[in-house]
Amino acid sequence: MVEIIIDGNMDSVKESVRAELEALYDIKAEDGEFLPEELAKRLAFLTEKINREIAVYMNRRGQVVDISVGDSSTVSLPQIEGRRGFFRLSGIRCIHTHPNGTGLLSAVDLNSLINLKLDAIAAIGVDNGQITDIYAALPLPEGEGTVPEIYGPFYYCHGEIDELTRLVSERDKQTKNLFENAQDREKAILVGLETNKGRNIGGKSEGQRLLDELEELAVTAGVTVLDKVLQRKNREDPAFFLGKGKIMEINLLRQAIGADLLIFDDELSGAQIRNIEEATGVKVIDRTTLILDIFAQRARSLEGKLQVELAQLKYRLPRLTGMGNQLSRLGGGIGTRGPGEKKLETDRRHIRKRISTLENELSELLKRRSLMRESRKKNDLPVIALVGYTNAGKSTLMNALCGSDVFAEDKLFATLDPTIRKLQLSDNKKALLVDTVGFIRKLPHDLVEAFKSTLEETISADILLHVVDSSSEEADIQISVVNEILNNLGALNKPVIMVLNKTDLITEEFRISYRSNGYKSYEVSAITGNGIQELLSGIADMIVPQEIMLEILAPYDEGWVMTYIYDSGKVIESEYLNEGIRVKTLIRAEKADRIRKYIAVK
Ligand code: GTP
Repeated sequence: MVEIIIDGNMDSVKESVRAELEALYDIKAEDGEFLPEELAKRLAFLTEKINREIAVYMNRRGQVVDISVGDSSTVSLPQIEGRRGFFRLSGIRCIHTHPNGTGLLSAVDLNSLINLKLDAIAAIGVDNGQITDIYAALPLPEGEGTVPEIYGPFYYCHGEIDELTRLVSERDKQTKNLFENAQDREKAILVGLETNKGRNIGGKSEGQRLLDELEELAVTAGVTVLDKVLQRKNREDPAFFLGKGKIMEINLLRQAIGADLLIFDDELSGAQIRNIEEATGVKVIDRTTLILDIFAQRARSLEGKLQVELAQLKYRLPRLTGMGNQLSRLGGGIGTRGPGEKKLETDRRHIRKRISTLENELSELLKRRSLMRESRKKNDLPVIALVGYTNAGKSTLMNALCGSDVFAEDKLFATLDPTIRKLQLSDNKKALLVDTVGFIRKLPHDLVEAFKSTLEETISADILLHVVDSSSEEADIQISVVNEILNNLGALNKPVIMVLNKTDLITEEFRISYRSNGYKSYEVSAITGNGIQELLSGIADMIVPQEIMLEILAPYDEGWVMTYIYDSGKVIESEYLNEGIRVKTLIRAEKADRIRKYIAVK
């Protein structure tokens, strides 16, 4: 039995139409048949009726396994990824309608074909409830280029079009390695707007440097960057963000170089996204969506995943109406990747419901986390949090300090979930070291909100180690960004140690001094280990001794003293004498008072 689910935006779809949609699940393709005529006709009829795109997903046995309804942005994905081996086709073909009259496939359709590893994607053009034409695309066999092969127009659902069924099974054998670099397939142009030039560093204006950073983000997300465009303009255009003329220029450029994605360096409104998508015919995302996408790829803990999903939904909700009407947003790729590859209910109502579920789950987790924090407090180990701009080297430094093996990668946001390690500073000084998510300029507000619970680790820490990539020409800007975020989190009122990392990469004359702001600072290289010992003793100096060594003579008739020592400290040596037990103990300073009167007289 196939579960009857219709995804997508079903608001205002009449009950009778809903029933007709559900009835599509009963249609089955015959052996060798690519698209049953009855299915195509009913799809055209229903598309006209609701004036929205409908997508049907069919498996190789000819059964309909999922149906989605919505204007482009609200069509959701069936959970088809991972059904078969990663490098194999999914075994699913998508047949969807284009209410605008032609079945010509859009760039987004073709992206979906690759990213979802579909067997094939077909679009039925619908006009007045009638089929105008049908186009289909199949992934290309390995080594034959990256653009999928497009077939059509077909005007009938039998004959020629059935040939595609045979081609699909051939392709399946040939495409084994086609998807290895599927994530790299999105080819983007990065777009920025510069309203004022800002400081010139290394011959680059602020806008250019921000675009460079956006490029790093894009590469981290698995996008190939083909070009960057920066427009200088007094203010942003409410409809097109840049001037309309510039957008048209970008459209020509993207056609010339074969880009299929535009990434804007600022948050765009729903209307701007729609307008630019309509004008250029390709997918448009903004910096926030890109960052959220990276976070979605990288979140590993349950909490991290929930937080990212929440931030994504909150960001998407007010932008739903605005997202491309013309384009088929069947998903896949940057900006549409969800946490855990779970199907995202993109309908607003569902989004709201999902948001409240996530909030509840998170608040449960938060309670647990704060209990854990409480118990750590009871343990009284001081907590030291590593903070810093993304890629400053926090994880590497954690490894250097603790001798642990924390995930460190030359990509932005390698660390998303907090990692906690014990740090042994000296015989009687220990601390907990917490590594947290890296900060970045224009960090999406929703994300800071969502990650507040993770960042609580930072907020509640006793000491902050502010790690700086001192080899970066923008080190001072990055320091300000981090301080600003810390300030927003209310975490700047605690002792801070500045760690000027990556000193192995800098030349003498490029040494920047940050000592003036009153913080202690250490120059280190987490990679070579230079300066690490000095840093460790600097941290140790900041920590009040937690344990002291006492020599106690515990009388035999005061049995509780030994019990107390065992409970509160460590017995280093003991000797049974006539007048009592002589014990050498390492005990927490604040616990020592109760037994001070038994201190052994030498
Ligand atoms: P996020 O997870 O983005 O916050 O990054 P992070 O601050 O934890 O940085 P990470 O430790 O992942 O290091 C980023 C890159 O910088 C890696 O390629 C490290 O090998 C490199 N790196 C870290 N410390 C040093 C250093 O002292 N010298 C040099 N040359 N490279 C370093």
